[in-house]
Amino acid sequence: MSDSQTSSHPIWTNRWTYILATTGAAVGLGNIWKFPYIAGENGGGAFVLMYLLCILLLGLPILIAEVMLGRKGRANPVHAMLAQAKNAGVSKGWSFIGIMGVAAGIMILMYYSVVAGWSLEYVFQSATSNYMGKTPTDVAAGFGVFAEDTTRQLIWHSLFISVTAFIVGLGVTRGIGNAVNILMPILFLLLLMLLWYAYQNGEFMRGLTFMFSADFSKLTGQSLLTAMGHAFFTLSLGMGTIMVYGSYMPENQSIPGASVTVAFLDTLIALIAGMAIFPLVFASGLAPGSGPGLLFETLPIAFSDMWGGAFFGTGFFILVSIAALSSSISLIEPGIAWLEKLGITRIAATVGLALLCWLGGVASIFSSEVFDTLDFITANIMLPLGGLLIAIFVGWRLGYTRVRKEVTGVNNGLFNVWFVVLRFITPIGVIVVFYESIKGLFAA
Ligand code: PHE
Repeated sequence: MSDSQTSSHPIWTNRWTYILATTGAAVGLGNIWKFPYIAGENGGGAFVLMYLLCILLLGLPILIAEVMLGRKGRANPVHAMLAQAKNAGVSKGWSFIGIMGVAAGIMILMYYSVVAGWSLEYVFQSATSNYMGKTPTDVAAGFGVFAEDTTRQLIWHSLFISVTAFIVGLGVTRGIGNAVNILMPILFLLLLMLLWYAYQNGEFMRGLTFMFSADFSKLTGQSLLTAMGHAFFTLSLGMGTIMVYGSYMPENQSIPGASVTVAFLDTLIALIAGMAIFPLVFASGLAPGSGPGLLFETLPIAFSDMWGGAFFGTGFFILVSIAALSSSISLIEPGIAWLEKLGITRIAATVGLALLCWLGGVASIFSSEVFDTLDFITANIMLPLGGLLIAIFVGWRLGYTRVRKEVTGVNNGLFNVWFVVLRFITPIGVIVVFYESIKGLFAA
């Protein structure tokens, strides 16, 4: 059952640790907070469908490719890319993917930890019955008041970054491995509980219709870009997390098998979160397009007049916080693994990068422009660009035989389907979406 440290690079010898860590990286605020609110802002059904298509045609193929690069390289994203490029006899410049990834992880954590802090605030508010028995309008307004309270947000953000740094500082096996083995199963159970609650108390059919009936007139180049960006964001793709976790994956585990599991669980959890949240949105008279506060307004309203609401609310927001934590450790790990390889101790690397993220978080708290820009640049540009480069590198540079040797556990037919999609459909898809959204920007 236990994981071990072979040579100088750690490996999770227990295959469940790899699956749970990667699922933990993938399932996070992206699924429970971001997906429902961007689906709401972009009109529901048609957006959800585009997102699902992006997962299947762009996300999953790149996921497999990125894991492969990490496991074959057995190093942090920068050195893994350097080694592969050398192996394939192509330019060292490909290590840019790793460097951009390390930067993207730090930049995402600069606003991610702020939202994680909101979630901690609501653990506190739930546990102290703060919103219990209030009117829906007052509960929703409560989030607005908190959003202005920079001191409170600072405290929670600092706490969250400290916990992240503590776990990562403990190491790949002792810290990350142990943490995900405990945290992940609980998350799933609580989401199911919430789904049941929404089914009992919310306008379930109206929520479902909103999510799954597609009105394509609502789709714009911009919402297409958001759907694609989110597919990358939610699978943690194109920024080195998947590569560095792949480098800790045991040799005998099947990369496609594990990747399909992770992509499936991630999508399922986003859809369940949507199916739980939209019925509650409609039942409490809120608008689905109300933005980043959606989760933090809707759920307290729902819990405020529920029997045992304070108890369930506490449980739910603890789980949102846990989901955020298992992702935040994966956001900072590529940078730490890289600095370690450059000779800096793990502790020093952790403290340094955590401080950087903390500072960026402070900026995000004081300026919603910083917050929005970090989110837009990382999710909609850096991750798809990283993913595109990975697809091109693995599809066109590494060579069929090298790739086939590493991607095992599937027959030649399936392998070929994946490889053809990765070479043609995935890059063209990313480029078309980029093009559509840029065209839209100029038309606007
Ligand atoms: N996938 C995570 C989420 O959905 C966010 C994340 C992005 C984590 C990139 C790691 C790397 O919340």
